[in-house]
Amino acid sequence: MLRQDFIYPEGIYLDGNSLGLTSHASVQAIGRRLQEWQEQAVNGWESWFGLAETLSPTLADLMGARPEEVIATGSITMNLHALLATFYQPTAQKKHLVATALDFPSDLYALQSWAERHDAELRLIPSRDGYTLNDEDIAAAFQEDVALVLLPTVLYASGQLLDIQKYALLAQQKNIVLGVDAAHSAGSVPHHLHAWGVDFAVWCSYKYLNAGPGAPGGLFVHEKHFDRLPGLRGWWGHQKASTFEMRSYFTPEHGAGAYQISTPSILALAGLEGALEAFRKVGIEEIRARSLELTTHFMKLLDEHTPELRVVTPREVHRRGGHVSVQHPQARLLSLALREKGIVPDFRAPDILRMAPVALYNTEEELQQTVQVLRELLDTRSYMAFEQKSTRVV
Ligand SMILES: Cc1ncc(COP(=O)(O)O)c(C=O)c1O
Repeated sequence: MLRQDFIYPEGIYLDGNSLGLTSHASVQAIGRRLQEWQEQAVNGWESWFGLAETLSPTLADLMGARPEEVIATGSITMNLHALLATFYQPTAQKKHLVATALDFPSDLYALQSWAERHDAELRLIPSRDGYTLNDEDIAAAFQEDVALVLLPTVLYASGQLLDIQKYALLAQQKNIVLGVDAAHSAGSVPHHLHAWGVDFAVWCSYKYLNAGPGAPGGLFVHEKHFDRLPGLRGWWGHQKASTFEMRSYFTPEHGAGAYQISTPSILALAGLEGALEAFRKVGIEEIRARSLELTTHFMKLLDEHTPELRVVTPREVHRRGGHVSVQHPQARLLSLALREKGIVPDFRAPDILRMAPVALYNTEEELQQTVQVLRELLDTRSYMAFEQKSTRVV
């Protein structure tokens, strides 16, 4: 869709669900901010001070929120801690936490630390097949003694998309706080966080949002909670108009901005500033339509040509996100062999090969070539040559 707007590396890049590609706009925005630093030094803060807030209208469109309900800040795990410090208010009758057995580990580590503090259980919604979650199992976890449920929008390994609208309603009926980790849907799938009534959400911007490695993430706080004080406070969340009055007491900025804590990295924020231009050119609905076209095509090719790779991503369009995952006992070696041939997927333990045809820059031809190379690798078993290779990134 906008391939020319990106700096496309050599080969075929199918790992935009882990680290999105550099856009020319990001390079320019970072260059601009760097120049401001060189030329203006501390005076640069005149334009940097409210930089995160200037990104909120575009982020709000992507997340289905009001601009004051979102802010670019922090990272997923840090934001999750900050939001748990605010929203996890256990009582004797209602104190347990719920997540899923298929969550990204960092979310579970964060939740475990809060469960320990309050002598509560962290209950994990089980998976029947090890890759996906069942609707009834999720619903069954919304028990009376649960204070807070955290759900992923899209499961990081299998790519299953959950019906967040349905669980937000259930959470409201049961008086349970619902938080959402939108790492694998932000920039790939439309959201309606406000209309659904989700209490809070976190996401990163280094995946489908293409903002750069370690770029600031984002968070959403529903406006119905704007009367709460953030559980973790810092001067960056103070009412902007009076920050430099240097008061000894905290007055929150209106909305999600109050959840910022520290001085942001302006150069990292500039990566996001530039990256969001693509999402102003092409709306998220259009991106989703193109993404589904690519993933549908890819799954068809995989079914036809490499049946020994079992697609574990749900087939129904309303149940899958932006990447396609296949299961194979030698998925790790296949991932290494593909990389050696100039095709970049990724591997998730124990046996998942994950590939994301990104709507903004991947093409059908690349998917055809990938499946052809996979077929050759499976026929020749040449991937076995990588058995002894140890790498951190596979
Ligand atoms: C679903 C999910 N949650 C959480 C994280 C952790 O993110 P961070 O390092 O920004 O805290 C990741 C990282 O890839 C992720 O994929």
